[in-house]
Amino acid sequence: MTIERIPTHIEGLDDNMQGGIPEGHIAIVAGSSGAMKSSLTFSMLYNAVLYGETSGIYVTLEQGKDSLRSHMANMGMNVEDPRVRNRIAIIDLADLRVQLDEQGMGNRVDWMGQLIGQLTSYRNSIGFEILVFDSLGAFFTLTKMENPRDEIFRLFEAVRRLGLTSFFICEMTGEDHKQFGEYGVEDYLSDTVMHLVMDRDADDVKRKLGIVKMRHTHHLLGYQPFWWKEDEQRFSIVSRL
Ligand SMILES: Nc1ncnc2c1ncn2[C@@H]1O[C@H](COP(=O)(O)OP(=O)(O)OP(=O)(O)O)[C@@H](O)[C@H]1O
Ligand SMILES: [Mg+2]
Repeated sequence: MTIERIPTHIEGLDDNMQGGIPEGHIAIVAGSSGAMKSSLTFSMLYNAVLYGETSGIYVTLEQGKDSLRSHMANMGMNVEDPRVRNRIAIIDLADLRVQLDEQGMGNRVDWMGQLIGQLTSYRNSIGFEILVFDSLGAFFTLTKMENPRDEIFRLFEAVRRLGLTSFFICEMTGEDHKQFGEYGVEDYLSDTVMHLVMDRDADDVKRKLGIVKMRHTHHLLGYQPFWWKEDEQRFSIVSRL
């Protein structure tokens, strides 16, 4: 049985993980603030849309839609390209939250139910295949949930049932920042874990990327320095020497 895969388009990475991330995987992209979680994940969706016949939804809660678009444009990605405009829908939940708070409704909304309902209806109407969720932590600050672990399970199951390939962005938490996500279940419940770190050596800081796990895949282990190639609009782990 061959597994269909979605290339990351990160130079040097796909060849070292059997071609890409298996379709249908739930991936988490974890890392500290500024580790380039949003940029890396957006660039994967961007290139999947430009070079593959796919489409996706980018749900943003951390930063507004305009801020996200201008960041990606500043990196050299052509967010005005009709293929990008037509096949990447950016949904700004932060904006919706502000509106609901202004109406005093913020606490009365079943965010998880609403979200799953929205994703299901988008899936049925526009048939997108890739979901980016930026970020899980920001979503859980929208409202107090009785049992966040159960809610994460519910969300992941819904996404699995919809047959989406998904990327959930999360922070590192816990003592020493060694835990993926906030609730200690995110990495167990997911199929793929990508970890972005900012490695500090005295005054020098290097960004590095590691595939912590990827089910169904023989992949590169260890942390590789990565950087953005603006002229090629993709990240690279290939040594510059
Ligand atoms: N044109 C560019 N080329 C390369 N790197 C850039 C460029 N513009 C910004 N950056 C880097 O991108 C970083 C922000 O990346 P990004 O927003 O993807 O990180 P993040 O991990 O999502 O951060 P946050 O925790 O705030 O969500 C900046 O701190 C800056 O170092
Ligand atoms: Mg971000």
